Order: sequence, then C-alpha cells, then structure tokens
Amino acid sequence: MPTVTILNHNLEISSQPTFSLLNNFLINDAPIHGSCGGHANCGCCRIRILEGPEGMTKANEREMQKLGEKLLAAGWRLSCQAHSLRDIVIHMPTGNELDRDCSKL
Ligand code: FES
Repeated sequence: MPTVTILNHNLEISSQPTFSLLNNFLINDAPIHGSCGGHANCGCCRIRILEGPEGMTKANEREMQKLGEKLLAAGWRLSCQAHSLRDIVIHMPTGNELDRDCSKL
C-alpha cells in the first residue's frame, strides 16, 4: 500500500488506494478537518501535495469546482475526492491555518 507522509504532523500512514485519502486519514486517526461528510462542499479537508503529485488520481469535476485551477495548480487537493496510488508527501492544514468556514488558508 502507498505511504502518505504528513510532513507537518510528523506522521506516516498506509493508504488503501480504493478509499479516498479522507477515509484513510480517518481510519488512521490523522488530524484531518471536514464538515460536509466528504461531498466536496466544505473545503476543510484540503491538503497540499508536496511530493509525488503524479501518484494521485486526477481531480474530478466537484474538486475542480471547489478548489479552482489556481489552488489545484499549487498542489491543493480535496482529500475526500482524491486517492493516492503511490507514495506521496503532503501538508495537512491545522485548525489555525483554516478559517471558520474553510474558504481561505
Ligand atoms: S470533507 Fe468537505 S470538502 Fe472534503
């Protein structure tokens, strides 16, 4: 199984590619945020891919609409929509980095 290294939390988890990254984070008790039940509405589950973006599934329509081209190009993904197929290194925003409605970082 691919390894997801969550650099800013000094944490590594094994990720099952058939599950979204959000579900893998929840299974492994990683400190991910999210308030819409994984429906690409809240944006709170966003993560930034630091290494290995080629190991990710392509952004789907809902993810593209929520994040927009600029954030996607900067490596941001919605963990509720994305799956990792290979090892990746990410930044997982803390509560202090997210505003109340998760609209900005
Ligand atoms: S959990 Fe709300 S956008 Fe991913």
